[in-house]
Amino acid sequence: MHHLTDEEEFGKRLMEEERRSWQNPEKILSEIGLEDRVRKRHTFNVADLGCGPGFFTIPISRLIGNRGVVYAVDWSEVMIRQLRNNLANLAKETMKNVVITLADLSVGIPSIPKGNVDLVLFANIFHDITDKGVFLNEVKRISRSEDSLIVDIDWQKRNMAIGPPVEMRLGEREAKEILENSGLTVVRKIDAGPYHYGLVLGNKKETKS
Ligand SMILES: C[S@@+](CC[C@H](N)C(=O)[O-])C[C@H]1O[C@@H](n2cnc3c(N)ncnc32)[C@H](O)[C@@H]1O
Repeated sequence: MHHLTDEEEFGKRLMEEERRSWQNPEKILSEIGLEDRVRKRHTFNVADLGCGPGFFTIPISRLIGNRGVVYAVDWSEVMIRQLRNNLANLAKETMKNVVITLADLSVGIPSIPKGNVDLVLFANIFHDITDKGVFLNEVKRISRSEDSLIVDIDWQKRNMAIGPPVEMRLGEREAKEILENSGLTVVRKIDAGPYHYGLVLGNKKETKS
Protein backbone atom coordinates (compact mmCIF):
# COMPACT_ATOMS: atom_id res chain seq x y z
CA MET A 1 0.00 0.00 0.00
CA HIS A 2 1.38 3.35 -1.07
CA HIS A 3 1.49 5.93 1.71
CA LEU A 4 0.84 9.40 0.47
CA THR A 5 3.64 11.93 0.83
CA ASP A 6 2.86 15.28 2.47
CA GLU A 7 2.68 16.90 -0.95
CA GLU A 8 0.30 14.26 -2.26
CA GLU A 9 -1.89 14.76 0.82
CA PHE A 10 -1.81 18.51 0.25
CA GLY A 11 -2.79 18.09 -3.39
CA LYS A 12 -5.74 15.92 -2.39
CA ARG A 13 -6.80 18.44 0.22
CA LEU A 14 -6.77 21.23 -2.36
CA MET A 15 -9.48 19.38 -4.27
CA GLU A 16 -11.74 18.58 -1.32
CA GLU A 17 -15.40 19.36 -1.79
CA GLU A 18 -15.50 21.22 1.55
CA ARG A 19 -13.13 23.88 0.18
CA ARG A 20 -15.83 25.02 -2.20
CA SER A 21 -17.86 26.30 0.76
CA TRP A 22 -15.29 29.04 1.41
CA GLN A 23 -13.60 29.31 -1.98
CA ASN A 24 -15.92 28.60 -4.85
CA PRO A 25 -14.03 28.64 -8.15
CA GLU A 26 -17.11 29.08 -10.37
CA LYS A 27 -18.28 32.02 -8.25
CA ILE A 28 -14.84 33.60 -8.42
CA LEU A 29 -14.72 33.17 -12.20
CA SER A 30 -18.11 34.81 -12.44
CA GLU A 31 -16.89 37.69 -10.20
CA ILE A 32 -14.04 38.09 -12.68
CA GLY A 33 -16.61 38.22 -15.49
CA LEU A 34 -14.82 35.51 -17.43
CA GLU A 35 -17.80 33.99 -19.20
CA ASP A 36 -18.92 37.31 -20.69
CA ARG A 37 -15.40 38.03 -21.86
CA VAL A 38 -14.99 34.61 -23.44
CA ARG A 39 -18.32 34.92 -25.23
CA LYS A 40 -17.21 38.14 -26.88
CA ARG A 41 -13.97 36.73 -28.20
CA HIS A 42 -13.00 34.43 -31.00
CA THR A 43 -9.94 33.20 -29.12
CA PHE A 44 -9.45 33.29 -25.38
CA ASN A 45 -6.42 31.78 -23.65
CA VAL A 46 -5.84 31.53 -19.92
CA ALA A 47 -2.72 30.89 -17.82
CA ASP A 48 -3.31 29.36 -14.38
CA LEU A 49 0.03 29.95 -12.66
CA GLY A 50 0.76 27.59 -9.77
CA CYS A 51 -2.24 25.53 -10.82
CA GLY A 52 -1.74 22.64 -8.37
CA PRO A 53 -4.10 19.71 -9.01
CA GLY A 54 -6.53 21.91 -10.94
CA PHE A 55 -9.04 23.44 -8.54
CA PHE A 56 -9.33 26.48 -10.83
CA THR A 57 -7.93 24.88 -14.00
CA ILE A 58 -10.87 22.51 -14.42
CA PRO A 59 -13.72 25.05 -14.21
CA ILE A 60 -11.71 27.44 -16.40
CA SER A 61 -11.16 24.71 -18.96
CA ARG A 62 -14.91 24.03 -19.05
CA LEU A 63 -15.68 27.67 -19.51
CA ILE A 64 -13.15 28.21 -22.30
CA GLY A 65 -14.21 25.13 -24.26
CA ASN A 66 -12.88 25.28 -27.79
CA ARG A 67 -12.20 29.03 -27.73
CA GLY A 68 -8.63 28.58 -26.58
CA VAL A 69 -6.21 26.88 -24.24
CA VAL A 70 -5.54 26.89 -20.51
CA TYR A 71 -1.84 26.84 -19.71
CA ALA A 72 -1.66 25.01 -16.38
CA VAL A 73 1.73 25.83 -14.88
CA ASP A 74 3.33 24.22 -11.84
CA TRP A 75 6.84 23.19 -10.87
CA SER A 76 5.75 20.14 -8.92
CA GLU A 77 5.65 16.79 -10.69
CA VAL A 78 3.39 15.53 -7.88
CA MET A 79 0.84 18.29 -8.51
CA ILE A 80 1.06 17.84 -12.27
CA ARG A 81 0.47 14.11 -11.90
CA GLN A 82 -2.63 14.78 -9.78
CA LEU A 83 -3.82 17.34 -12.31
CA ARG A 84 -3.45 14.76 -15.10
CA ASN A 85 -5.44 12.23 -13.08
CA ASN A 86 -8.13 14.75 -12.25
CA LEU A 87 -8.45 15.66 -15.91
CA ALA A 88 -8.48 12.00 -16.96
CA ASN A 89 -11.34 11.35 -14.53
CA LEU A 90 -13.36 13.89 -16.45
CA ALA A 91 -12.69 12.03 -19.68
CA LYS A 92 -16.27 12.46 -20.90
CA GLU A 93 -15.93 16.20 -20.97
CA THR A 94 -12.35 15.78 -22.16
CA MET A 95 -10.38 18.75 -21.09
CA LYS A 96 -8.42 18.80 -24.32
CA ASN A 97 -7.69 22.48 -24.04
CA VAL A 98 -5.39 22.17 -20.99
CA VAL A 99 -1.70 22.60 -21.83
CA ILE A 100 0.28 21.23 -18.90
CA THR A 101 3.48 23.15 -18.31
CA LEU A 102 6.15 22.20 -15.80
CA ALA A 103 8.07 25.37 -14.87
CA ASP A 104 9.49 27.33 -11.95
CA LEU A 105 7.61 30.63 -11.93
CA SER A 106 10.54 32.38 -10.24
CA VAL A 107 12.62 31.56 -13.31
CA GLY A 108 10.19 31.92 -16.22
CA ILE A 109 7.63 30.27 -18.45
CA PRO A 110 9.44 30.25 -21.82
CA SER A 111 6.98 27.83 -23.38
CA ILE A 112 4.14 30.38 -23.23
CA PRO A 113 4.46 32.74 -26.20
CA LYS A 114 4.56 36.50 -25.77
CA GLY A 115 1.21 38.31 -25.89
CA ASN A 116 -0.80 35.11 -25.99
CA VAL A 117 -2.90 35.14 -22.83
CA ASP A 118 -6.21 36.91 -22.10
CA LEU A 119 -6.48 35.98 -18.41
CA VAL A 120 -3.52 35.34 -16.15
CA LEU A 121 -4.67 33.91 -12.82
CA PHE A 122 -2.48 33.31 -9.80
CA ALA A 123 -4.40 31.85 -6.90
CA ASN A 124 -2.84 31.15 -3.50
CA ILE A 125 0.64 31.38 -4.89
CA PHE A 126 1.98 34.95 -5.07
CA HIS A 127 3.06 34.90 -1.40
CA ASP A 128 5.21 31.85 -2.21
CA ILE A 129 7.08 33.24 -5.21
CA THR A 130 10.67 34.03 -4.29
CA ASP A 131 11.47 36.22 -7.29
CA LYS A 132 8.35 38.31 -7.73
CA GLY A 133 10.10 40.62 -10.21
CA VAL A 134 10.81 37.81 -12.66
CA PHE A 135 7.34 36.40 -12.10
CA LEU A 136 5.56 39.69 -12.82
CA ASN A 137 7.68 40.35 -15.91
CA GLU A 138 6.51 36.99 -17.20
CA VAL A 139 2.89 37.85 -16.35
CA LYS A 140 3.23 41.05 -18.39
CA ARG A 141 5.08 39.34 -21.24
CA ILE A 142 2.43 36.67 -21.78
CA SER A 143 -0.54 39.08 -21.44
CA ARG A 144 -2.07 39.89 -24.79
CA SER A 145 -3.05 43.54 -24.38
CA GLU A 146 -4.00 46.33 -22.04
CA ASP A 147 -7.44 44.79 -21.79
CA SER A 148 -6.18 41.39 -20.71
CA LEU A 149 -7.18 40.32 -17.24
CA ILE A 150 -4.64 39.63 -14.52
CA VAL A 151 -6.03 38.28 -11.26
CA ASP A 152 -4.32 37.72 -7.92
CA ILE A 153 -6.23 35.77 -5.29
CA ASP A 154 -4.48 35.12 -2.01
CA TRP A 155 -4.95 34.58 1.70
CA GLN A 156 -5.80 37.53 3.93
CA LYS A 157 -2.99 38.17 6.37
CA ARG A 158 -4.58 37.31 9.68
CA ASN A 159 -4.82 34.33 11.96
CA MET A 160 -7.35 31.70 10.99
CA ALA A 161 -7.75 27.98 11.43
CA ILE A 162 -6.93 27.15 7.81
CA GLY A 163 -4.30 28.16 5.27
CA PRO A 164 -0.58 28.88 5.51
CA PRO A 165 0.99 30.33 8.70
CA VAL A 166 0.28 34.04 8.97
CA GLU A 167 3.97 35.00 8.70
CA MET A 168 4.16 33.36 5.27
CA ARG A 169 1.22 35.33 3.92
CA LEU A 170 1.30 38.50 1.88
CA GLY A 171 -1.40 40.95 2.92
CA GLU A 172 -3.56 42.73 0.40
CA ARG A 173 -1.91 46.13 0.87
CA GLU A 174 1.58 44.70 0.50
CA ALA A 175 0.59 42.65 -2.55
CA LYS A 176 -1.01 45.71 -4.16
CA GLU A 177 2.17 47.71 -3.58
CA ILE A 178 4.42 45.06 -5.17
CA LEU A 179 2.04 44.64 -8.11
CA GLU A 180 1.74 48.38 -8.70
CA ASN A 181 5.50 48.91 -8.40
CA SER A 182 5.89 46.48 -11.27
CA GLY A 183 3.66 48.64 -13.47
CA LEU A 184 0.36 46.84 -13.03
CA THR A 185 -2.72 48.70 -11.79
CA VAL A 186 -5.41 47.40 -9.49
CA VAL A 187 -8.57 48.01 -11.50
CA ARG A 188 -11.05 46.48 -9.10
CA LYS A 189 -11.44 44.10 -6.22
CA ILE A 190 -13.57 41.01 -6.23
CA ASP A 191 -15.22 38.97 -3.52
CA ALA A 192 -12.96 35.95 -3.14
CA GLY A 193 -14.66 34.48 -0.08
CA PRO A 194 -14.24 35.11 3.66
CA TYR A 195 -10.53 34.24 3.90
CA HIS A 196 -9.12 35.71 0.70
CA TYR A 197 -8.73 38.93 -1.21
CA GLY A 198 -9.02 39.17 -4.96
CA LEU A 199 -7.36 41.83 -7.09
CA VAL A 200 -8.11 42.38 -10.77
CA LEU A 201 -5.20 44.13 -12.43
CA GLY A 202 -4.63 45.97 -15.66
CA ASN A 203 -1.45 45.96 -17.67
CA LYS A 204 -1.07 49.41 -19.15
CA LYS A 205 1.65 49.21 -21.77
CA GLU A 206 4.03 52.16 -21.68
CA THR A 207 3.23 54.69 -24.35
CA LYS A 208 6.06 55.38 -26.77
CA SER A 209 7.24 58.96 -26.75
C1 LIG B 1 -1.31 26.52 -2.52
S1 LIG B 1 -1.13 25.68 -4.04
C2 LIG B 1 -2.44 26.47 -4.98
C3 LIG B 1 -2.88 25.67 -6.16
C4 LIG B 1 -4.06 26.28 -6.94
N1 LIG B 1 -3.72 27.57 -7.50
C5 LIG B 1 -5.27 26.38 -6.05
O1 LIG B 1 -5.63 27.50 -5.65
O2 LIG B 1 -5.84 25.35 -5.71
C6 LIG B 1 0.33 26.44 -4.71
C7 LIG B 1 0.86 25.74 -5.95
O3 LIG B 1 1.91 26.51 -6.51
C8 LIG B 1 2.99 25.68 -6.86
N2 LIG B 1 4.22 26.49 -6.79
C9 LIG B 1 4.78 27.06 -5.71
N3 LIG B 1 5.89 27.74 -6.04
C10 LIG B 1 6.03 27.59 -7.39
C11 LIG B 1 7.01 28.03 -8.33
N4 LIG B 1 8.05 28.77 -7.96
N5 LIG B 1 6.84 27.68 -9.62
C12 LIG B 1 5.79 26.93 -10.02
N6 LIG B 1 4.84 26.48 -9.17
C13 LIG B 1 4.96 26.80 -7.87
C14 LIG B 1 2.95 24.54 -5.86
O4 LIG B 1 3.58 23.38 -6.37
C15 LIG B 1 1.45 24.36 -5.66
O5 LIG B 1 0.91 23.43 -6.55
